[in-house]
Amino acid sequence: MAENVNPPAVAVQTDSLTRSYGNLLALSGLNLTVNKGDLFGFIGSNGAGKTTTLRILATFLTPSAGQAQIFGHDVVREADAVRRIIGYMPDFFGVYKDMEVTEYLDFFGACYKIPSAKREKTVNDVLELVGLSEKRGTLIGALSRGKQQRLGLARVLIHDPQLLLLDEPASGLDPRARIEVMAILQELQRLGKTIIISSHILSELQNLCNRVAIIEKGQLIYSGPVQGVRDQFAAGRVFLVKVATGVEDAMALLKTGLEASEVVYKDGRIRVVLKDHETDPGSVAETLVKGGFKLIGLEEEELGLEEVFLRVTRGDTQ
Ligand SMILES: Nc1ncnc2c1ncn2[C@@H]1O[C@H](COP(=O)(O)OP(=O)(O)O)[C@@H](O)[C@H]1O
Ligand SMILES: [Mg+2]
Repeated sequence: MAENVNPPAVAVQTDSLTRSYGNLLALSGLNLTVNKGDLFGFIGSNGAGKTTTLRILATFLTPSAGQAQIFGHDVVREADAVRRIIGYMPDFFGVYKDMEVTEYLDFFGACYKIPSAKREKTVNDVLELVGLSEKRGTLIGALSRGKQQRLGLARVLIHDPQLLLLDEPASGLDPRARIEVMAILQELQRLGKTIIISSHILSELQNLCNRVAIIEKGQLIYSGPVQGVRDQFAAGRVFLVKVATGVEDAMALLKTGLEASEVVYKDGRIRVVLKDHETDPGSVAETLVKGGFKLIGLEEEELGLEEVFLRVTRGDTQ
């Protein structure tokens, strides 16, 4: 059978997904597509609707309107089929502090009806995957927060699901523990899992995810590659320019000769903010060279992704 000639298989598809809590519209007409194999970042500030969406996908909450399918199975009508192929890690999950690591995983393995003969190997495999093999006999309460989170990951892997739904798994972790969780997720993606991970911090996911969606007030405002976020929302690009001589004249020319919203002198360079994203970035050099200036430095000032994200979402949620 030919492979890789067709477009990627769709793992998750939502169609006008909507959810209200009383009068509050928490999710409004969400259309989302996640492809098989994606490590998909689901971003939004607090209250944006991330948990609501993930709970619906995990069949724990019914939509008020609209639909969602996981690998072709409707989350309402075929909830049982969906539960078999997903692993859902909620934002807060109770830890069974007095249980040993292996006992805990064995318990969940039994819940998923993994035969006892097979369970020990399954438990060992998932422990290996999350790097907790050494902790098999440890009481959960004695594990660090980061290791408890990795155990949570092991738990959702026990029935070998195709899709992982992880609600802010890195929140509250120190940087090192966060990096460890991210590394596990990359490994899981490499093993062919599809993963949706939510976060209220875009930059946390920028080097991890191949695609992201941003929601705000229950509505999708962006879906696509991480780099596209900057392209879509950054105002004008910013350039730092150095000319050999005639700074004042060069600045005057830049103010009149191109679509700039700001031209200032700063730290020995001219800082030019282009008016919008449509403005041709090549026009900065072109304008100066045509005006007879000798250009000795031209560099783009990178706007931090987080800054872009905050601009997009600032003050928009309660
Ligand atoms: N069980 C609930 N009852 C009432 N309102 C809720 C409930 N759960 C969430 N909300 C509200 O719905 C909105 C979306 O919440 P949530 O999905 O938890 O967002 P996020 O996970 O992005 O922080 C928020 O305004 C929140 O207060
Ligand atoms: Mg949440």
